[in-house]
Amino acid sequence: MALFEWKDEYLLGLESLDFEHKDLFQCINDLYEQCGIQAEGDELEDCLGQLHARLAAHFALEESAMREMKNPHYEAHKAEHDRFLEEVTEVVASFRSDSGGEHVEAFAIRVKEWILIHITTTDRQLVTRGR
Ligand SMILES: [Fe+2]
Ligand SMILES: [Fe+2]
Repeated sequence: MALFEWKDEYLLGLESLDFEHKDLFQCINDLYEQCGIQAEGDELEDCLGQLHARLAAHFALEESAMREMKNPHYEAHKAEHDRFLEEVTEVVASFRSDSGGEHVEAFAIRVKEWILIHITTTDRQLVTRGR
């Protein structure tokens, strides 16, 4: 079962960012599912690597959109991205294929919670205040 479902209420109305948000949901669900089917260490490692790469690419795209829009929350928003990416980088770097899926599962839940809050609060500011 998927960890979470995409809902249209998460849409910002900015096509490329919405597309990537949906893609991130899928990526987190895939990671979670891999844990459930007790995937091999390298499969989990691939999935973690994918998630890290897509998050980094998404943050870069969003930050460039914010610079174009001259968004007044740019610095604080970027700082949120940077802090979280650092956390993800540490988890990916410390992953060992013999460490089992259990802590990866907890990590998938942590990422899910972060992204849900981030999309519905901080990213939402892109289309509300200070657009
Ligand atoms: Fe963001
Ligand atoms: Fe975003």
